Amino acid sequence: MTDLNNSLSFGDILEHNIVTNKGVLLLNKGTQLTDNHLTLLSHFNWKYDSVNKVESSNRLQESTQIKVKKLITECIDQYSSIIEKIEIGEKPDFFGVFEGMKETYNEIEGLDNAIDVIYGFQDLDRYTYQHSVNVSLLSGLIGKILNASENELSLLINMGIVHDIGKVRIDNTILNKTGKLTNAEFNEIKKHTLFGYQILLELMASEKIAEGALLHHERLDGSGYPIGKSGDDIPFLIQILSIADTFDAICTERSYHEQRSPFFGISVLLQEAKDNRFNEEIVIKFVRYLMNQYKGKKIMINNGEIGEIIYVPYEEPHKPIIKSNEKMYDLRKVMLKILDFAEKDQ
Ligand SMILES: [Fe+2]
Repeated sequence: MTDLNNSLSFGDILEHNIVTNKGVLLLNKGTQLTDNHLTLLSHFNWKYDSVNKVESSNRLQESTQIKVKKLITECIDQYSSIIEKIEIGEKPDFFGVFEGMKETYNEIEGLDNAIDVIYGFQDLDRYTYQHSVNVSLLSGLIGKILNASENELSLLINMGIVHDIGKVRIDNTILNKTGKLTNAEFNEIKKHTLFGYQILLELMASEKIAEGALLHHERLDGSGYPIGKSGDDIPFLIQILSIADTFDAICTERSYHEQRSPFFGISVLLQEAKDNRFNEEIVIKFVRYLMNQYKGKKIMINNGEIGEIIYVPYEEPHKPIIKSNEKMYDLRKVMLKILDFAEKDQ
C-alpha cells in the first residue's frame, strides 16, 4: 500500500489519473472516490501526484444543474415558437435558439457528468423539442471528443437543434402513432428530411445546416434515406449528428416505446458500427466518453447482481471491469451484460 493512500478519502475528486508502478491505469482523473475505489487502490502499488479535494463540488454541480435546466427550458420555448411561426406561415428568427444552445453547451462541455446534467432534466411533454435539444448537445460533445474546430462545433450544435424541423409538415397522427407504422406512414415520415432541407434553405439560406436535416438518416452502407448516400458522401459532421440522434432516440421515452437504458443505446451503436452503418471511430470514442461518465455508478448486471463500473478499457470501453460486492467482473473475459442503472436518478 502506498503512503499516499492515507491522503485519499471518500468523496475526493482525482485531479490526475492513478496508475500502477508498472503504468497500468487504475482510476481516471475526475473520478469521485467511493469506498470501492479505495478498496481497489489498497490492492495495488500506485502513483499519484496530488488530490484535489473539491468539498464544494456537489453544491457546484447542483447549481450547474439548475442553470442548465433553465437554459434548456428557454431553448425548448424558443424552438417551439419557431415551429409555431412556421406553422402559421411567418418567418422565424433562429439566432436566439442558436445562441441559447451554444450557451447551454458551453455550460456543460467541461463537466465530468455532462450526460447526467443533460438527462437529469427531460421535458417529456415536449418530447420532440427535448429530443432536438439533446441531439444538439450530444453532437457538440461528440464533436469536442473528436477535436472539432469552433466553427464545426457551432455547426454541429445548430444542425442538432433543427435536424428534425421538417416534422412540422408531417401529420401529427402519424408522428404520435403508438402502434407499428404502415409502409405508407413510414414513407411519409421519411419526408421530414426533404421538408427540413427545404424549410431551412428557404428561411436561413444555410446550405450546411440544411444538409444536416436532409442527410441525418443516411447510413454509411447506403441503407439510409432519403437519397441512399454512402461512405464519405455523407459529411463527417452529419455522421456525428446521426449517432447523437440514434442514441438519444433510444434513451428517451417516446410514444411507442418505454424508455430504454443507455447501455442498450450503446449496444445498438456498436452493432450499427459493426454493420458499417455508423462510423466506428466516432462510435468507439463516444462510447468511451459515456462509459467514463458512468464510472462509479451503481448498475444492474444480467446475473441479477448490482455492481459498479470501476474501470473502462480504452480499446473496448463497452466491456468495463465491474465490482460487485467482493467480486470483480472483467466484461472482456466473462459473458455478462450491464442492463441499466440500479438507481434511476443516476
Ligand atoms: Fe429525423
